[in-house]
Amino acid sequence: MGFVTTDELEPGLHLLTISNGKLNPLCVDLLNELNDVCSQLATANPKAVVITGGEKHFAAGADISEFAERGGQAPFALNDGKTVQSIGGAFLDALNAVAALPCPTIAAINGVALGGGCELALACDLRVAGQKSLLGQPEILLGIIPGGGGTQRLARLVGPAKAKDLVFSGRTVPAGEALEIGLIDRIAAGDSRDEALEWARVFTKGPRASTALAKRAIDSGLSGSLEDGLLGEQRLFVSSFSTDDAVAGVSSFLENGPGHAEFE
Ligand code: COA
Repeated sequence: MGFVTTDELEPGLHLLTISNGKLNPLCVDLLNELNDVCSQLATANPKAVVITGGEKHFAAGADISEFAERGGQAPFALNDGKTVQSIGGAFLDALNAVAALPCPTIAAINGVALGGGCELALACDLRVAGQKSLLGQPEILLGIIPGGGGTQRLARLVGPAKAKDLVFSGRTVPAGEALEIGLIDRIAAGDSRDEALEWARVFTKGPRASTALAKRAIDSGLSGSLEDGLLGEQRLFVSSFSTDDAVAGVSSFLENGPGHAEFE
């Protein structure tokens, strides 16, 4: 315990920090804690969450020491299927909990975001990286494949060919190339955490319930056909009219014109 901390810096603006030494390997205990913290945070009416790692590094991926039996020597015996399943399950649950946060989430990346670290960033809605950041899915270099969304969320974000290039080669990409291929959204001029918080403040001024509905419409639409996505959007569009946000936004427009609405 004690790997994940959250601070509400301003009303609705939460900073979630992951700390596990300099490189922040994502061990199972850390992932389980991240899952719990995100489930609690989801009920705290967040308006925006910034997820960050250490000052030097975001996260170097899964804790590779958990892949082999403890205390072993070369040639190392890999852990059995059940243990590997529990590692994969911890990634699946924790990163799904991050993705399910009902508000905009921004990964603030410094240093390396490799393997599970890159997958954690992929579970966020947006990514800001420092100029010296390195991202990638190097699992293939260990003789395994990504197990925390690296074949799924990555392909949906950057397209199948670019995802295959990264996953098949295991090569790491610097911030400039990551921006070019859409793996990150911004390169921070200074500290990525400060820039991510500045960006997140834009969302804290928006309508909480309707922003959550918009996130749900986009994310659920991406996993099915266009036809189903459009029908889902219609349902959520109608739901958005039952929110206080819609009352405030539409009334403000009709009374004062565009851009003056203030939301709770
Ligand atoms: N899990 C567990 N331990 C890790 C780790 C990981 N993902 N990444 C690094 N470490 C350990 C190293 O084994 C080393 O341990 P030691 O001091 O006991 O020898 C220590 O952290 C420092 O690593 P080192 O490689 O010496 O640091 P570096 O600054 O030269 O390089 C990285 C940092 C992150 C670029 C490099 O360690 C690396 O490529 N790590 C693996 C990344 C990876 O494959 N992630 C996907 C996992 S599925």
